[in-house]
Amino acid sequence: MTKPTFIACDFKSREECIEFLQPFAGESLYLKIGMELFYREGREFVEACQSMGHKIFLDLKLHDIPNTVGSALKNLKDLNVDYITIHASGGYEMMSQAQLAIEGTKTKLLAVTVLTSIDQEILSNELMNPSPLKEVALGLAASAKRAGVAGCICSAFEAQDIKNHVGEDFLCITPGIRLADGSVDDQKRIMTPTQAVANGADGIVVGRAITKSETPYETYMSIKESINE
Ligand code: C5P
Repeated sequence: MTKPTFIACDFKSREECIEFLQPFAGESLYLKIGMELFYREGREFVEACQSMGHKIFLDLKLHDIPNTVGSALKNLKDLNVDYITIHASGGYEMMSQAQLAIEGTKTKLLAVTVLTSIDQEILSNELMNPSPLKEVALGLAASAKRAGVAGCICSAFEAQDIKNHVGEDFLCITPGIRLADGSVDDQKRIMTPTQAVANGADGIVVGRAITKSETPYETYMSIKESINE
């Protein structure tokens, strides 16, 4: 199966995003629309991207009490996007209600395990969780699986271990991707596209390595080809 490259459309506005998409005319892409763009442009922009033929990964990382997250998803259900994210740390009940809310649609829920900007030091000293980061990611993924969620967002460092722990069919989508010669920015645990896939990723999320590239289309195509050889 082709492994998707989700382009993280972390843009301020619809105009910036549309301008970025210009060189991709005719391509059907997987676009990750996150809080920044969604909070300004809303559902209408998601629908506009769908009508351009793109698949949508709505990265809202929902995290609230179970009833609120369930109700939010009922309100998003008719958008019929391909993926929506929630935080696994919201707990089993929250994830179950989220899953229940989107039943009957094609939307797959992905639960964020541990953000790739969090490392062991932050986990231990700021989030006051002394457990090894990998154990936390495995535990959260197992909880998501029990709640019926399709997969998770995790670091490529944990993808294969999560699959071994939770099951091969549990999707592992990995951000924190950098090209071998690229800058690291604020990410802490990074891998190249091919390393991520070799380590169990079912798809990769790539933002700045494509959106800040001098040649975004060529960079995207070479990433897409490299992970689907
Ligand atoms: O620019 P970069 O490739 O670092 O962008 C990564 C994208 O993946 C961002 O949109 C970020 O919100 C998202 N993400 C992440 N770590 C997670 C979940 C999502 O970096 N655990």
